[in-house]
Amino acid sequence: MNTRSRVRAGAVAVVFALLAAGCTGGGAGGGGVQGTPGAAGLRDPMFPKLGNGGYDVSHYALTLSYDPASGRLDGRAEITARATQDLSAFNLDLDGLTVRGATVDGAPAAVNRAGNELTLRPRDDIDAGKRFVATVTYTGVPKTITDSDGSEEGWLKTADGAVAVGEPTGSMAWFPGNHHPSDKASYDITVTVPAGLQAVSNGVLSSERKSADGRTTTSVWHAAEPMASYLATLAIGHFDTSTTTATLGRAKVPVLTAADPSVAAKSAALRAKIPEILDWEQQNFGPYPFAAAGAIVERDGDLGYALETQGRPIFPASSFEEGTLVHELAHQWYGDSVTPASWKDIWLNEGFATYGEWLYEEDFQHTPAQKNFEKAFANDDAWAFPPAAPTSSEDLFSAPVYQRGAMVLHKIRQKVGDDVFYEILSGWPAKHRYGTATTEDFTKYAESVAGEDLSDVWKVWLYGDEKPDKP
Ligand code: ARG
Ligand code: ZN
Repeated sequence: MNTRSRVRAGAVAVVFALLAAGCTGGGAGGGGVQGTPGAAGLRDPMFPKLGNGGYDVSHYALTLSYDPASGRLDGRAEITARATQDLSAFNLDLDGLTVRGATVDGAPAAVNRAGNELTLRPRDDIDAGKRFVATVTYTGVPKTITDSDGSEEGWLKTADGAVAVGEPTGSMAWFPGNHHPSDKASYDITVTVPAGLQAVSNGVLSSERKSADGRTTTSVWHAAEPMASYLATLAIGHFDTSTTTATLGRAKVPVLTAADPSVAAKSAALRAKIPEILDWEQQNFGPYPFAAAGAIVERDGDLGYALETQGRPIFPASSFEEGTLVHELAHQWYGDSVTPASWKDIWLNEGFATYGEWLYEEDFQHTPAQKNFEKAFANDDAWAFPPAAPTSSEDLFSAPVYQRGAMVLHKIRQKVGDDVFYEILSGWPAKHRYGTATTEDFTKYAESVAGEDLSDVWKVWLYGDEKPDKP
């Protein structure tokens, strides 16, 4: 779903009204209006060209085959979307790779490429409101992208395969799509790898089969709930997997973990603790939002950061410790189920997941959140900018977003008391389950639950430039 496109739907309605009144001439195509190209970006404050306008994706069916020896990925992306304007052409984001061809509703579409913008021009215009299916076939050695903060994402080669991680923009290195967090969709990810290797992705493993000649294995992963593309993952290699079931309230959720064999033994005890941690989280944050859970643990060096990939977060071995696990699992509620409407709202992910760690330490490690709050307050790095106003993409994953983001929640808690605070904490992901939301949506929501004005908290802790004299 694309929250921004809904705004434009209003403009489309105006055009229709004008047409009905005979104010403008008819256009080409099957008797419909003359379409125009969808926007090449959604004007995200951090990444203006990220995402695309004019349509809203509901489903991605990715069919991939990877050969670790050559590093080559062959892919076919089938994208089901709905036009939010009369479209003559529309863009997809794709970084690297070679496009072999594209279709829209089965008919060949013209393809044009400029940098990371792929433009598809269907034979016929697509009327506003109409559902369509675009397919893109592509090939090549996918890229590793270096972020402005120096970390690596996109497609990362490992000793025996590869991993794909994409926060904030890396997913366009392995499949074309509407790569802005505001356009969420369900996914089917089908991956073929040489026999002996495995492919682990998001959601539920719906089938795993050897080819007739025994040379390859194909796995099909199904992620039913809407997912932002930065949360899609794929890990190819050798894995020790283990499965169990978590009883979370009334839900029984399958838990599948996969660990590189060299780190399987030392990660086993903590992997086994996932059901317990999720149970504590669902008591505090509300019902677990997804049909599957788990974790992927890779070797150090295979990837540089842990990521809350939907349903199944991924970790380099040295980050696979209790606090980070609690953090990435907390993101399933904060970030994955309710997703920031734009990248400047990233504190809604990181502030909440960090506060989740503080609450966990309070409940299990005798460390009151107040202690972590004071520690964060004393950290000068946390005051570089206000958490709700990162100024560049380098800022996205830095101390003010995590530490001061968590401080904002602690200030709310101090002001409204535990009962109301926990109501806000669990009510927020429930209100925006599977959707997207802005910082302003949150501040309004918190005030409505609290029944009081919290502008002092917002002014100083969320938006303020100055560090207060005392915590
Ligand atoms: N969201 C990840 C976490 O749980 C961090 C992602 C960092 N990404 C980056 N490009 N630096 O904290
Ligand atoms: Zn995080």
